[in-house]
Amino acid sequence: MSPSPSPRSSALRPLTARGSRPLRGVALVAGDKSISHRALILGALAVGQTRITGLLEAEDVLNTAEAMRAFGATVTRDGPGTWRVDGVGVGGFAAPDATLDFGNSGTGSRLVMGAMATTPIAATFTGDASLRKRPMKRVLDPLTKFGATYDNALMPLTVTGANPALCIDYEVTVASAQVKSALLLAALNAAGRSRIVQRALTRDHTEKMLKAFGADIRVNALKDGGEEILLMGEAELKPCVVEVPRDPSSAAFPLVAALIVPGSELTIPSVLLNARRIGLIDTLREMGANIEIVNVRESGGEEIGDLIARHSQLKGVDVPAGRAPSMIDEYPVLAIAAAFANGRTVMNGLEELRVKESDRLSAIVAGLQANGVSVEERPDGMVVTGQGGAKGGGHVATHMDHRIAMSFLVMGLASAAPVTVDDVSMIATSFPEFEPLMRGLGADFAA
Ligand code: S3P
Repeated sequence: MSPSPSPRSSALRPLTARGSRPLRGVALVAGDKSISHRALILGALAVGQTRITGLLEAEDVLNTAEAMRAFGATVTRDGPGTWRVDGVGVGGFAAPDATLDFGNSGTGSRLVMGAMATTPIAATFTGDASLRKRPMKRVLDPLTKFGATYDNALMPLTVTGANPALCIDYEVTVASAQVKSALLLAALNAAGRSRIVQRALTRDHTEKMLKAFGADIRVNALKDGGEEILLMGEAELKPCVVEVPRDPSSAAFPLVAALIVPGSELTIPSVLLNARRIGLIDTLREMGANIEIVNVRESGGEEIGDLIARHSQLKGVDVPAGRAPSMIDEYPVLAIAAAFANGRTVMNGLEELRVKESDRLSAIVAGLQANGVSVEERPDGMVVTGQGGAKGGGHVATHMDHRIAMSFLVMGLASAAPVTVDDVSMIATSFPEFEPLMRGLGADFAA
């Protein structure tokens, strides 16, 4: 039986994190979310059988698996993390019988909009209360350039695929890997060579994986630091064996916990070290974090390695705005590290945080203030003035945001007084093992 995304009960599930003994041991975090979505989608667009190991079995990814089934692919779970996808080929998607529910997942929904937008079928997309508020025009408008149409800028919305689909030459104006990836997936079934330009160098998993699946794709550096991606349409993708590395965005939580809980030492093995994903490690090291990266090796076309993190006295830093794309999901937990540092940590260039699973800037600021941390909110950033620790004692509103929930639970493990978050149910969207994994390392959580 495949795990399937469970219908969420409307009851909130609060959890309290209390000052913990030193965290020790080995933290085996789950597979990378971004790569997991892409493996399922490209598997469905290939002709033949793709085999995936290490797939993240979290709600967001399971919703993408369901969507691939709805378009006609056969998606089979053989065991924990081990899946097979029998694809229908580029242009082979059938119209789904029912509305596609992507739950909380911006990545799943936006990538799938791209994947179907150049096939002459219609599909209706919806999601939970958080996803229904998130901007979709950033993806939908460029998809119209291929010839697709849509009826609504927010979910629920229906996309009608282009017929015929024309290739495009388009510059992505938001720093978003989701938008870039949606356009690349759409370009697969458009006649001719599409050109997609990005100024901000966002995560490149789609480009790498398209190459591995046999697409005719080239990435050229531009003089201004951006990139152009050239992708030949009417592609035929061949199936692949995909080994999904462990998710650095999930690793970030035990990593920061180890840095702030006195006496801690954790090993986090086999984490993806893609340069466009590990801005947090660079930043924490600049703050004085004792993080070793050992046993660096290659797996499935990506660099991976083992992280060893030890409790460290941190200091505040200015985080370069240009680093944001390589750590965009890590600012909530970086803000926690900043609270435990001495001095000001300045974070800018973060307008994208306002349109994540929640308005993360205001959620972080409110959560820090509730726990006695001095923080200034800016339109596109924040400044945290750390005093080497946090009072805690606060109740944190998570706004249906998994990363807000996990970040403030990490905070509570090292605060003077416990920290309570209002709901942990959303953690299942990206890191279902978070609670037991952290408890196993020594975290003191109380329901
Ligand atoms: C993702 C891209 C990022 C990131 C998200 C995953 C992806 O979103 O925040 O968690 O897998 O492409 P944006 O494209 O909105 O920056």
